[in-house]
Amino acid sequence: MQPKIYHFNTLNSTQDKAKEFSKKGLNDIIIIADAQTKSRGRFKRKWHSGKGGLWMSILLKPDDTKNLQYLTFAAAVAVVKSIKKITGVKAKIKWPNDVHYNGKKLCGILTEGIFGRENHVIIGIGLNANQDNFSTDIRNIATSIKIISNKETSINHLSKNIINEFFKIYNNQYNKNKLKYILKSWKNYCDTINKNIIVISKNKKTYGKAIGIDNGCNLLLELESKKILKIMEGDLKVRY
Ligand code: BTN
Repeated sequence: MQPKIYHFNTLNSTQDKAKEFSKKGLNDIIIIADAQTKSRGRFKRKWHSGKGGLWMSILLKPDDTKNLQYLTFAAAVAVVKSIKKITGVKAKIKWPNDVHYNGKKLCGILTEGIFGRENHVIIGIGLNANQDNFSTDIRNIATSIKIISNKETSINHLSKNIINEFFKIYNNQYNKNKLKYILKSWKNYCDTINKNIIVISKNKKTYGKAIGIDNGCNLLLELESKKILKIMEGDLKVRY
């Protein structure tokens, strides 16, 4: 069964609308907005989402809420595969969940859980599709499919493909506890491993080499001393 899509012109945030819908007991649905006025990214950062991008949230009620990082990975895989299929652009994943092209961010993914009597998960996907340019504060770090390919992309087409790819992984792998397959395809599209990187967390920078991912989707960072650190969150600068 195809999940139902709710489409809005403008919302504060598709994440908040999905939260509202979860309170009504809905799940396995998609919220899409043409523009958002109060959208957010990871670490409560502002996310730029005027017209031209794909702004969507997937509302789920999974039985397994202990492996949510794998859902974020599944979304990143669905996005990269769909971009390639619909536009030919070969984007890559930067750990944990940024989709980038030549180091510039194309798409960000935000997974939020609502835990209570019922457990819901909302996966927010913000994909820069048809923007011609960005404001000066993000111009050096963001890009769009249009800037890369010089062509308009059908957001409808793109969103349908992403939803399709995501639910294939959700139903056939996540819900069947075949998590290692998710990790395998994620690794296929990720270009962080074997790179020298800087991990930037709240108050410090750690330099090292990304040498792998563990079963909890944490990044394994080898320091110059050969000590291996498990990185659970943070921003990465990859030295390409
Ligand atoms: C990141 O920080 O990289 C994640 C950005 C996620 C943005 C998307 S846009 C759709 C959904 N609604 C929001 O308010 N945020 C997410």
